[in-house]
Amino acid sequence: MEVLGIDVGGSGIKGAPVDTKTGNLLAERYRIKTPGKAEPEPVAQVVDKIAKSFNWTGPIGIGFPAPIKSGVAMMAANISPNWVGVNANKLFSEVTGCDCTLVNDADAAGLAEMAFGAGRGQHGTVIMITLGTGIGTAIFHRGKLLPNTEFGHLEMKGQDAEYRASDAARQRDDLTWKKYAKRLNKYLLAMEKLFWPDLFIVGGGISKESQKFLPLITLETPIVPAKLLNEAGIVGAALAAKR
Ligand code: BGC
Repeated sequence: MEVLGIDVGGSGIKGAPVDTKTGNLLAERYRIKTPGKAEPEPVAQVVDKIAKSFNWTGPIGIGFPAPIKSGVAMMAANISPNWVGVNANKLFSEVTGCDCTLVNDADAAGLAEMAFGAGRGQHGTVIMITLGTGIGTAIFHRGKLLPNTEFGHLEMKGQDAEYRASDAARQRDDLTWKKYAKRLNKYLLAMEKLFWPDLFIVGGGISKESQKFLPLITLETPIVPAKLLNEAGIVGAALAAKR
């Protein structure tokens, strides 16, 4: 099945048609900068522009940086607060004229990694962590997702973990990889103590630079970069729409 996968991020909105059987992108991805403040209508217009660029009329899966229940955004950390309570499935479907399905962005990335990437064949507890503007989490056990976990907001030193250990925090505080790895390690140790997972997978744009910080992480749990790198979000959004 072919589904247009779209990943709405804090800095960019990216999309490409995906073959949901293989997880392959069927065309080069198209990226547009996220409109300032990420308000609902301008974001929907960008999604429409991406769909039009592929002459798309079929189903669209959209990974979105918020917990999503029945298509409704429940909370807004790195997007406009005006999203809270909005039926985003409906808004995107009306603007694009296509059948749109929303899913949390980290859940999307996790679904893709479990199907086609680093989590393939892993039956224990797997935690996908996406490091970007925020920190996203997706938890799987025996291949099943527990949706909408929000452990990027775990409290560390009185602050949201994502405020200290996201990729945006690394850039904002101009951290060396060594200093960043130290902060990330503290976060991952806290997650390890809470869940005792069998595997951590690290995704987000930063995953293509994983060799700069993953070797500095000192966990008992194995930790690997996302195999689909930053494309996991697009592929997983398409998979979620298929489901
Ligand atoms: C949001 C999550 C999202 C994560 C990554 C957090 O701020 O609350 O829903 O998955 O950022 O984008």
